[in-house]
Parts: sequence; structure tokens; C-alpha cells
Amino acid sequence: MAKAKIFVTRKIPNSGIKLLKQKGYQVKVSNVDRVLTKSEIKKGIKGADAILCLLTDDIDGDIMDAAGPKLKIIANYAVGYNNIDVAAAKKRKILVTNTPGVLTDTVAEFAFSLMLTISKRIVEADTFTRQKKYEDWAPMLFLGSDLKNKTLGIVGPGRIGSALAERAMRGLRMNIAYTATKKNEQFAKKFKAKYFNLNNLLKKADVVSLHVPLLPSTKHLISTKQFKLMKNSAYLINTSRGPVINERALVKALKNQEIRGAALDVFEFEPKLTAGLTNLRNVVITPHIASATEETRSKMSEMAALNIIAVLSKKSPPNPVN
Ligand code: GLV
Repeated sequence: MAKAKIFVTRKIPNSGIKLLKQKGYQVKVSNVDRVLTKSEIKKGIKGADAILCLLTDDIDGDIMDAAGPKLKIIANYAVGYNNIDVAAAKKRKILVTNTPGVLTDTVAEFAFSLMLTISKRIVEADTFTRQKKYEDWAPMLFLGSDLKNKTLGIVGPGRIGSALAERAMRGLRMNIAYTATKKNEQFAKKFKAKYFNLNNLLKKADVVSLHVPLLPSTKHLISTKQFKLMKNSAYLINTSRGPVINERALVKALKNQEIRGAALDVFEFEPKLTAGLTNLRNVVITPHIASATEETRSKMSEMAALNIIAVLSKKSPPNPVN
């Protein structure tokens, strides 16, 4: 039997690559360290049985067709999979898998860090200190906000939302509130969390943290109208997907101090930033690194590989999305 061919669109931690090679597959890893163009992906995927791709690769039907008839699985190296045309894959009987669970705690730790970083003004203060502007201790220097007894509004009480709620409740003694398309009784009970519709959650919360997938229904979930509902003292945290926030509306809201601050790991037009964002002091921005720990990126690599191995061994993959 011919060796199965796996195309990997960018260098990832070796743990998964090793598993694939141990199976005797022919593994081709892109050797350019950047996001591939569509035509480069089409070229790389030709004749492949599996593709291991990233959230930065837009995998559409055209690319699936370029692979040829052997393509059986698209293994995304991410929990979010809005970059893949799942319906097109389904039509072609190609499985799509993701990497849920292994990055839950890591992303929750990151969102937790962002809450503290923005509310304690750590980045602003660091910049100030590096610029040798610290002349004397001052009672009014860099006043931030406390989080204890404040309300954290979780938008999307899934795995990551729950892991953040737990840390905020136990670690910071915050009160938890949530919104979701369906009430989540388990979440409500575990975190004594009250359910609100989105508008009421935005009115109530001192910190709003987004943990929804990007769908047509969640695009621009937070826009001009929603910023007006939020408290002027509130913070917005985003570790989900950039387009969940209308970034132009966010820049305006931050400029007009309709909210106190925002901390973002993801951007609407990633990797581009909306004009004006970097001029604001009340925003913390990081380059989509919420799952970026040695441990987690390695586990994601293994998980993507195990999904491929299962499918190519004619078994059900552990993490199917379709
Ligand atoms: C990262 O953004 C992921 O979806 O895993």
C-alpha cells in the first residue's frame, strides 16, 4: 500500500509530527515560516490523505478539490474552526477535527491575566517606568480598579468560559454572571452564576469576557449599541475571535471612555489592527497567543495527529466537528 501523505501547513511542535512519522506516513511540513497563500496550500495538499492546518489557513471547497479524491481529514490545529468551510467538507465526505480541551486551562489563564493586566494598568505602568518617568511615589499614580466582589460577565459558558469563571470566583472572589443561547444549569450552579440576556449582562458586568465561537450570529456581537449599554467603568476581554467585536466601534468607545478599557488577544482583521487602536492607552493587545505555552502547543500537535491517525486507520476521530 502506498504511504499515506500528510500535508502540514506550517512548522508546529514536533510531538504530533513524531506520531505521524511513527505510523509510517509521508509527512510534508511547509518549510516557509509564514501563512501560506491559497495557491501554495493547493500545491501542498495535492494528493494528500490528510491536511494539518492552522486557524490562519482558509480551507474552502476549492482547496479540498485541489487535494484530489484521497483527502479524508482536515485536522485543524486550534479549537476554533471558523477558517474551515465545514459544509463543503461534509459534502465531500471529508472529516474536520479540532483541538478542544487541551487548551482550555491555558486560554483561561491568559484571559485571567488580561483581566488583571488591564484593570491594574500594568502595561501602561511598565511603559512609563521604562521611559524613566517614575520620579516619585504618588497617591494618584496609575489608579486602577479592584476586581473583588465585582461581576464578571461570561459570554459563552463553555469550557474556556467555565475555566475562567472558576479562577475568577475562587481566585479573585468575583461574582459570576453569564449569557448564552441556552441556559447552562450546571454552570449556574457551580459558579452561583445568574443568567442574563446579553443586553442586561452588559449593563450589569464590571468585566465582560467573550468565549463564543465565531459564527454569523456572533459576528459583531459587541458593537456601538452594546458599548452604550456597558458601564463606563467596565472592561472588555477578548480571547475568542476578533470579529465578535466591531473593532471600529470599540476604538470609538475607548476614545469616548464609554468603557474603561479592553484587553484583546484577537483582532477583527488579524493580523491588521484597526486605525487608532494602538494610540489608545486603555487597551492591552497581544498577538493571538492565549494558547501559546510549550505544554499546550505540544498537546495540540499530538491531538491533531491523533485525529489524523484515527481517520486514516478507519476509526472515528476523537475530536470531530462534523
Ligand atoms: C485559537 O485561537 C484556537 O482556536 O485554538
